[in-house]
Amino acid sequence: MDEFLMHVKEGLSQKPKFLSSRYFYDSRGDELFKQIMQLEEYYLPAYEMEIIKNQSKALAEFVSLKANELNIIELGAGNGSKTKYFLKELRPYFTTLNYTALDISPNILVENKIQIEQFISDVKIDGIAGNYFDTFPLLKSDDITKLILFLGANIGNFSTENAINFFKFIRNSISHEDYFLVAFDLIKHPREIIKAYDDAQGVTKAFNLNLLERINRELGGNFKIDCFDHFPYYNPTNGITASHLISLERQTVTLSDGTSFHFEPFEAIHTEISKKFFISDIENIAQNANFSVQNYYYNTTKGYVFVLFKPTFTI
Ligand SMILES: C[S@@+](CC[C@H](N)C(=O)[O-])C[C@H]1O[C@@H](n2cnc3c(N)ncnc32)[C@H](O)[C@@H]1O
Repeated sequence: MDEFLMHVKEGLSQKPKFLSSRYFYDSRGDELFKQIMQLEEYYLPAYEMEIIKNQSKALAEFVSLKANELNIIELGAGNGSKTKYFLKELRPYFTTLNYTALDISPNILVENKIQIEQFISDVKIDGIAGNYFDTFPLLKSDDITKLILFLGANIGNFSTENAINFFKFIRNSISHEDYFLVAFDLIKHPREIIKAYDDAQGVTKAFNLNLLERINRELGGNFKIDCFDHFPYYNPTNGITASHLISLERQTVTLSDGTSFHFEPFEAIHTEISKKFFISDIENIAQNANFSVQNYYYNTTKGYVFVLFKPTFTI
C-alpha cells in the first residue's frame, strides 16, 4: 500500500487523530512554505540568515583546521535559498567542496539545484529524493570529511526522544572526523513564538489545511476544507508549539478506497510540533547520542543558534 495512504489510515484512526508534518510538502506545500519563509512573523529564516552571513567564516576556519576537502550533506534541504550563501562563504576554505541535498520532495530538489548552481560555481551539486531515513544511510562513503547539515530548526519537529534517536541515526552513518551542524530555535518570549505559527495573512493556516487538500487530491478524500480550522498553541513550560486542524462540525470523511473517518465537533488532528530549546536541552540530546559540542554560533538576539557537533570517541 502507498506510504501516504497507510499513514493517513493509521493516523486518522487513532485517538487523538494524528498526521505527520512530513506530508506537508507536496508541490503546493512547497510553495506555501516558501511564502511562510517570507512572513514577517516567521522570524526563523531571518535569524538563520544572520548566522550564515556573520558566522560561516568562523565555522569554515574551524572545520578547515582538520580538513582540506569537504562533503556537505543536507537533510531536509528545501530550496537552498539560505544554503547557497553558506556554501559560498565556505568555498574558499576547501580545495574541494561537494554538496548533496536530501529531501522528500523531488520538486524542491530541482529548485535547490538551479538556485545553488546559478549562485556558485566550482561546487559539485547532487540531489537525492526520498525519506532521509532511507537515503542517508545509503550514501557512498569516501575519505573526504563530511559536514552534515540539519537547518531550518527542523530538529524542533521531533520529540526529545526522537531527536536523540535522530542524532543516533546520524552518528551511526558518520565517522569520528565528520561534523554535524544543527540549527536550533531557542526559548524566547511566548508571544514572539506563537505569532510565527499563526500569521495574520493565514499562510500557515493554508499550509496546514493543504494536508487535507493533499488527501483529497492523492487519496480521493472528500474533506470539506472550510469545515476545518488551523489551531496552534505554544506551551512555555515545555517549549513546544503544537499545530492542529480542528473539525468545525460533526462529519464523516471518506477516501476513494472506501475507508471513512468520523469527526466530532471540535475534534483535533495533531499535525506538527516545533520545539524550542534551552542550551541544556541541546547538551542533553548530544550527550545521549554520543556527540560533543564543538562550537555555538548565535544570531545577534541569541534567540537562534547553529551548533557544531562531532562524534564522541568511544572505545
Ligand atoms: C521546514 S522545511 C526546511 C527546508 C530548509 N532546510 C530550510 O531551512 O529552508 C523542511 C524540509 O524537509 C523536508 N522533509 C521533511 N521530512 C523529511 C524526510 N523524512 N525526509 C526527507 N525530507 C524531509 C521537506 O520536504 C522540506 O523541504
